[in-house]
Amino acid sequence: MKIGLLGTGNMGRILARKLPAAGHEVKVANSRGPDSISGDVLEKGARATTVEDALANVDVVILAMPSTGFEKIRPLIAALPDDTVLIETSNYLPQRDGHNPALEAGQVESEWVQEFFGRPVTKAWNSIGSDSFERKGQPRGTPGRIALPVAADRARDRDIAISLVEDTGFDGYDAGVIADSWRQQPAAPVYCTDLTREEMGRALALAEKDRLPIRRSLAFDVIMERIGTGNMPDADFLVRVGRTLYM
Ligand SMILES: NC(=O)c1ccc[n+]([C@@H]2O[C@H](COP(=O)([O-])OP(=O)(O)OC[C@H]3O[C@@H](n4cnc5c(N)ncnc54)[C@H](OP(=O)(O)O)[C@@H]3O)[C@@H](O)[C@H]2O)c1
Repeated sequence: MKIGLLGTGNMGRILARKLPAAGHEVKVANSRGPDSISGDVLEKGARATTVEDALANVDVVILAMPSTGFEKIRPLIAALPDDTVLIETSNYLPQRDGHNPALEAGQVESEWVQEFFGRPVTKAWNSIGSDSFERKGQPRGTPGRIALPVAADRARDRDIAISLVEDTGFDGYDAGVIADSWRQQPAAPVYCTDLTREEMGRALALAEKDRLPIRRSLAFDVIMERIGTGNMPDADFLVRVGRTLYM
């Protein structure tokens, strides 16, 4: 597929390597321009370009950026053809993104994104930490392969995103419509806990919406306390925190 990818940070740089490796034609952009994109991001065949060009003539657009960057790209996203699949990976972290009154009042994060852009979005890849995403992908059919929930209101968009998730090394799990996608938001049982397809259905069902903000905040404090010691945790620290606090 032809894919436009915005973001070359923790998540974007991994997508920019995995998707071309699976045979997709990927144009990638960040906020600072193509010259700022390092060679390792482009190593598998992604092409560095401007934001405008990344969004032109593609089947799929992936936003691997925090919502704080959405205002700048709003008119470009509004101009996308209706059948372009718009996938967003974002999570609301108030300590990073600032206070969003609608989300604080309990609006589902991707519903807010849909309203913001005035068009359907698909939620994928938001529920895995970048370290697991980089290291733990496996071929289809591998026992114990990690599954990632994918939510969208349009079945075609969801199917395409599921197949792209598969191409990045993870089972794509149909998590239904955007109204239910709070079940994969930060601090839900499936968030950064590296579950398998067999574990996914029950974990989505066990999510409790009212508990997400307090658990997200507890996790933030635990992670910052550890990082603050200067003693950087090992790569699976986030998974251990998630399994302790979210499940
Ligand atoms: N980190 C994780 O483990 C993880 C896992 C799952 C989901 N997520 C979510 O995914 C999103 C991205 O996270 P991240 O950790 O990858 O972020 P990040 O490392 O901070 O990278 C953000 C990227 O977005 C780009 N960007 C920002 N505004 C832009 C704009 N207007 N146009 C084009 N590019 C723009 C930045 O460009 P510059 O490079 O030029 O600054 C940067 O490359 C967040 O919402 C996060 O919560 C993160």
